[in-house]
Amino acid sequence: MEPRCLSLPDASVLVFPDAVEAGEAAAEHLMKAAKAAIQMRGKAVLGLATGNTPLPVYAELARACQSGRFLFDDVVTYNLDEYYPISPRDPRSYRTYMHRHLFSQINLPAHQAHVPDGSVPESGVADYCALYDRWIENDGGLDFQLLGIGRNGHLAFNEPSDLPIEEFRQTPTRVAKLHPVTRSDALKEFDGNANLVPARALTMGLRPILNARSLVILAMGAKKASIVAKALQDPISSKVPASLLRLVPHQTVWMLDEAAASELD
Ligand code: PGA
Repeated sequence: MEPRCLSLPDASVLVFPDAVEAGEAAAEHLMKAAKAAIQMRGKAVLGLATGNTPLPVYAELARACQSGRFLFDDVVTYNLDEYYPISPRDPRSYRTYMHRHLFSQINLPAHQAHVPDGSVPESGVADYCALYDRWIENDGGLDFQLLGIGRNGHLAFNEPSDLPIEEFRQTPTRVAKLHPVTRSDALKEFDGNANLVPARALTMGLRPILNARSLVILAMGAKKASIVAKALQDPISSKVPASLLRLVPHQTVWMLDEAAASELD
């Protein structure tokens, strides 16, 4: 079924009957952007996300790879974020999530998959974050970025902020303190034990994210409806980081299910 298409002044929004259809459409969008980049410059550089929302995207990418419809030989990936500190081998790390849901299912060469390393020592973490941004820049920037939205409007772990918009949009990859809403949403990954939820994370900054040549933001379910309406219809504000995507409207597509779209006017 064709999605419903909402045309807002500074956002393209597609509304799908359910999360699976939205995920499949996001996967198609990603593969199309990747194929175009591979044709143009011999490789595609993709920014990837974790959480519940991208799971149908990764299932579709795995199917596409296994059927030979899309191969990852010429793809380089950079994940948005990782808890800090955490061992990459920890079952709750985003590195483990990516291995389980995508990397082990596709033919992406291991050295072409980057997830911020939550085990770098405190003394070297600032340099490591600067290096992560340099790797992305040296790879020519992101051809495509997949995003989810937190219930508080965060993009990656760029949490709601008091920074002026122009300053916030230039933030680099860095260590960030997690917002109470984010920590409470992470409880389920940490056996419901608040003491186990990390207080900080490594997060790609808004600068590399908003510089991506194409972006898809996915939001599913009623619990995202109110933040989606704020991000799309209230004035752009650092207090709702996802609203800054409206600064790059021509690159960005919002893909929602009916429940997540239910509070849009
Ligand atoms: P979720 O997380 O996909 O698990 O809802 C999204 C996010 O926090 O960005």
